[in-house]
Amino acid sequence: MKTLMVSLLLTLGISMTAQAAGDVAAGQSKSMVCAACHGPDGNSPIPNFPKIAGQGERYLIKQLHDIKSGARPVPEMMAFMPGLSDQDIEDLAAYFASQKPVIGAADPALVAAGEALYRGGRLETGLPACTGCHAPDGVGNRQAGFPLLSGQHAAYTLKQLTAFHEGQRTNDGEAMMMRSIASKLSDQDISALATYIEGLH
Ligand code: HEC
Ligand code: HEC
Repeated sequence: MKTLMVSLLLTLGISMTAQAAGDVAAGQSKSMVCAACHGPDGNSPIPNFPKIAGQGERYLIKQLHDIKSGARPVPEMMAFMPGLSDQDIEDLAAYFASQKPVIGAADPALVAAGEALYRGGRLETGLPACTGCHAPDGVGNRQAGFPLLSGQHAAYTLKQLTAFHEGQRTNDGEAMMMRSIASKLSDQDISALATYIEGLH
């Protein structure tokens, strides 16, 4: 895991010099089409549609390119993705990154199990703690492109962890970081983590 992290950080360090320059105001004016599903400020009111308010810009840009290319299939977005230029994507990312995420509430029955896994991982199976990449408060690592998780709808997080687990979401890079982590999670682990994350801040 350590070697993996080091080589990953080296790769990221090189590509980080090409930081995008999105424009918040231009992004806001292009965001009308997103509002129906993600909310006007990116705090989606619908549990299956992810909150994208306050998400790191680098992560947003990567996901939008992956969705546009089909590397991450999102059928709900395919009607308009081909019409978005690289500049549109950078502006939209700058706008949603500048918004404030709204935190939800965790299920009290599962929060202890979720917290233990999130903070400690599981030594026996080599499951790393989530804190290493997503930070103790779930804000992620903007520079590295590790996504903010805190406050995310549990239904969405559950769907993503299950998709990584089953190998349906494959845009986590050649190191397959999230696929290998999710392969070590049971259904119960995923439920506990998803609700813990919704209340995390
Ligand atoms: C018709 C509904 C719909 C519209 C409109 C829509 N999205 Fe989405 N979006 C989704 C769904 C559903 C997902 C998650 C799919 C999944 O479960 O993987 C998603 C995922 C995303 C993600 C990935 C989030 C993450 O945490 O990984 C980003 C970024 C995103 N959308 C941005 C946008 C932007 C920007 C617009 C406007 C240009 C937009 N979306 C318009 C439904 C929509
Ligand atoms: C070695 C770093 C690393 C560790 C440890 C890690 N993650 Fe991740 N995680 C990532 C990266 C990188 C991505 C983004 C992949 C991509 O670009 O699509 C990600 C994506 C995610 C996503 C999808 C977010 C979204 O908005 O769609 C979830 C959910 C997630 N991780 C949860 C977890 C949980 C829970 C743990 C602990 C069990 C964990 N991660 C441990 C690096 C890590």
